[in-house]
Amino acid sequence: MSAPSLSSPSAPIGVFDSGIGGLTVVAELRRALPHEQILYVGDTARVPYGGKSAETVTRYSREISDLLVSEGAKMIVVACNTASALAVPSIALDYPVPMIGVLEPGAAAAVKATRSGKIGVIGTRATIASEAYKKAIRRLNPLLSVDAIACPLLVPLIEEGLLHDEITEAVLRRYLSPMLEKGIDTLVLGCTHYPLLKQAIRSICGSDIALVDSAENCALAVQELLKSNPSEESADSSPRLDILLTDSSEGFLRIAEKSLGLSIESLAVRRVGN
Ligand code: DGL
Repeated sequence: MSAPSLSSPSAPIGVFDSGIGGLTVVAELRRALPHEQILYVGDTARVPYGGKSAETVTRYSREISDLLVSEGAKMIVVACNTASALAVPSIALDYPVPMIGVLEPGAAAAVKATRSGKIGVIGTRATIASEAYKKAIRRLNPLLSVDAIACPLLVPLIEEGLLHDEITEAVLRRYLSPMLEKGIDTLVLGCTHYPLLKQAIRSICGSDIALVDSAENCALAVQELLKSNPSEESADSSPRLDILLTDSSEGFLRIAEKSLGLSIESLAVRRVGN
């Protein structure tokens, strides 16, 4: 099958996540590609994905990708590590537009960042159980040591907006302490929700540990893809951010606007699946 091509320059970049986490990717996309239209789908009816099976996450990812394609997206950015680990390898080639996940760019950035060769990865249960980061990092450098831990309590705390809260900090400390004791020098934030806790994570890890943000690295990968297809780059001077949620979500707008500084043109609820 030939590589899928982008559709038209003014078409939106389609982005999806289970909830608000993918907005960290949107914020980075806005910085890297200020002229692009973005259509974001947050699967708020079915968040979190992180404790679900590969079969379920793959079904959800297909349904959301179908929606993005039917809305005219010129590419699909899977702004969710869980879906990137569990679904992207089996569905990416089924779409007429390119699909980019967050995992490979994050793994490459971690390999580049480490000096001691000891990398820590935090993510959802499903992402960590898949060992997708470990495999992607070891494909790039088999000599690196990768210590990965699932942090299932973090996504619900973030979705609740508890970004600067002592409970969140205590939970983070519990998760991170064992890795810090093992002497990692690089920590991959292997869930797109986690950059919203970057400040708290930084204060626990200190300044000597490199934090690899999957959102930032995914945006760079999208930028590269568009650069290699310059005719597909949008020159729009006032690009829109349109959001579809699969269920209403109270905290969504607050976090998008206050924590990430995103301005949203439209927000609607759209039912997906059964
Ligand atoms: N933000 C997602 C990720 O990167 C999903 C979190 C979840 O729904 O559990 O894995």
